Amino acid sequence: MKKILILNGPNLNLLGLREPEQYGSRTLADVEALCASTAARLGYEAVCFQSNVEGLLIDKLHEFGALHRAGQALGCVFNPGAYTHTSVALFDAIKGTGLPVVECHISNVHSREAFRHHSYVSPAATGIVVGFGVDGYELAIEGLVRKHA
Ligand code: DQA
Repeated sequence: MKKILILNGPNLNLLGLREPEQYGSRTLADVEALCASTAARLGYEAVCFQSNVEGLLIDKLHEFGALHRAGQALGCVFNPGAYTHTSVALFDAIKGTGLPVVECHISNVHSREAFRHHSYVSPAATGIVVGFGVDGYELAIEGLVRKHA
């Protein structure tokens, strides 16, 4: 069964506690369970990874880039958290690996502070899902499968 990487960046381990008015009450474990069931329904295996460390996110993109080239991974749903707005290195990692990445944000970043309006990741992403709460992860998986299966 091909894998889909569900990659979450900094502070997303705090889901459920963190600013519930922005991010809702569901935890990262809830999100990962939603992704696992969505992927399974579509015939894929979700592999979930969260880190607060930029380099570990890059290493995981490299690992799945290799799996993608070997035909063992379809792509990635990635919520890069605040690194969205700061990280040229994540842009380079996505471009460099060729891994299809759907960028996913729980909140509508465009209705929030101006510093959240720019994404370094978006130009490298195959698609973007923004502002649907944690249900966006399900939409992102479906979009990845429709576009790349
Ligand atoms: C976020 C939006 C980012 O601006 C923020 O830094 C996050 C979460 C979202 O899912 O809405 O950590 O990526």
